[in-house]
Amino acid sequence: MRSMASSASSRGNIAAIVGVGPKLGRSIARKFAHEGYTVAILARDLGRLSRFADEIAREEKAQVFAIRIDCSDSRSIREAFEGVLSLGFVEVLVYNAYQPISWHPTNFTDIKVEHFEKSLAVSSVGAFHCAQQVLAGMVERGRGTILFTGCSASLSGIAGYSELCCGKFAMRALSQCLAKEFQPLGVHVAHVIIHGIVGTPRGPIASSSQQSLLVGEQQHQQTGGGAREGWMDPDALAQTYWYLHIQDRSAWTQEIDLHPSNQRYM
Ligand SMILES: NC(=O)c1ccc[n+]([C@@H]2O[C@H](COP(=O)([O-])OP(=O)(O)OC[C@H]3O[C@@H](n4cnc5c(N)ncnc54)[C@H](OP(=O)(O)O)[C@@H]3O)[C@@H](O)[C@H]2O)c1
Repeated sequence: MRSMASSASSRGNIAAIVGVGPKLGRSIARKFAHEGYTVAILARDLGRLSRFADEIAREEKAQVFAIRIDCSDSRSIREAFEGVLSLGFVEVLVYNAYQPISWHPTNFTDIKVEHFEKSLAVSSVGAFHCAQQVLAGMVERGRGTILFTGCSASLSGIAGYSELCCGKFAMRALSQCLAKEFQPLGVHVAHVIIHGIVGTPRGPIASSSQQSLLVGEQQHQQTGGGAREGWMDPDALAQTYWYLHIQDRSAWTQEIDLHPSNQRYM
């Protein structure tokens, strides 16, 4: 059963952001809303999504729809996209969902196969299903953008993180295959590799609910700490998603990697 909450009802071209939590997903949704898109935000927690939708709709004077999806379940994806596609033409799909991982590496022999399979299901199978839902409409119109979010684990294996690496490697392969197949048909497909830790926004568009988190970061900067090493502002990352979308089709990026300037170990 599809669950959908909306802040408005009229129709327009849609940016669908799959995997929206308090950091990057929300910033990308806010950016596309700011630029005039009707935005569909999707994740499992419909209550939290609805709060994000209300907040972005109010602050950006945009139409934002919150739709429940579980990217590890193909039926849930089909039902969610019935809702998304009923809103209008999906011109932009951002696939941002990932199975959360522990900050501490796990010995390979301790990784449960269910967790490994879930990570692959969310990172790669879910991305496959979501792309299949929107590509027909994009090809029919000869335009559209699909952006996949990757990380350092998309590029090289990391001890203790086989489930994350395998899922993200597969997503990168999917992105490359789709870019080569669909670029000639007018669909821009790109993979965004984020080499750092996504923090909370620093800029003026940070929402009230982010203020408490910002206090610690601002105190850190005011006491001479500067931005924390390896931290990245999700609003700054969201700008890159927007630039990728508006790139001229004579010069499309297929993969981009983003690094915080103060990172020493990469
Ligand atoms: N955080 C970092 O430091 C970091 C660093 C490099 C790259 N990245 C990449 O950036 C992307 C966003 O990361 P973020 O930390 O900023 O998270 P975020 O965008 O704030 O939220 C992502 C959301 O994905 C949703 N999700 C997880 N499993 C899902 C599922 N099965 N079906 C549907 N939605 C699901 C979760 O919401 P629900 O629980 O409501 O489903 C989660 O809040 C990820 O692809 C990640 O790999 C993050």
